Amino acid sequence: MPTAAELVDRLTLEVPDFPEPGVLFRDLTPTLADADGLRTITDELVAAFAGRFDLVAGIEARGFLLGAAAAYAAGTGVVAVRKAGKLPPNTLVEHYELEYGVAALEIRAGQLAPGTRVLVLDDVLATGGTVDATCTLLERAGAVVTGVGVVLELADLGGRARLSGREVHAVRTV
Ligand code: PRP
Ligand code: HPA
Repeated sequence: MPTAAELVDRLTLEVPDFPEPGVLFRDLTPTLADADGLRTITDELVAAFAGRFDLVAGIEARGFLLGAAAAYAAGTGVVAVRKAGKLPPNTLVEHYELEYGVAALEIRAGQLAPGTRVLVLDDVLATGGTVDATCTLLERAGAVVTGVGVVLELADLGGRARLSGREVHAVRTV
């Protein structure tokens, strides 16, 4: 049986010039569409933080897929960290910069019990802006962020340094 990292290498698509010229986009949707890919990736991310989280946060959009799978595997619930404008009031909002644009993330206000230990999951760690904003949002809501799990880390973009002080587990780093 191939490892999760091997499946990431085998199944992830590299798309040049998307969504903008000069960006090499790694598309993990085929990786997560593969039964062995989804299972091995989810199992690795849950095992890396086993017993240390009460809740999983999945970041829109591909983090939702991982978040739900990991929460089910670990026996926890999942929180959807949404792009701005999707949730009804009242929300907590955090603005951030992307590799290619600006955006904001939201969660429902009053949703987390103080001290809830949260595992943050997403598909790709690039500049780290998305995960950084997510962690800030969850901590403003009273959570304790246990760590961050991603499928693919793009090392040149410096996300790990931006998240310094946080535990980050990447299934594959390129
Ligand atoms: C991608 C990816 C991460 C983020 C990584 O999402 O899924 O969430 O960018 O980039 P960063 O580390 O530089 O912040 P995107 O914003 O493209 O949104 P989508 O999942 O809704 O397509
Ligand atoms: N793939 C998916 N999401 C991303 C990427 C990528 O290559 N870069 C920044 N966010």
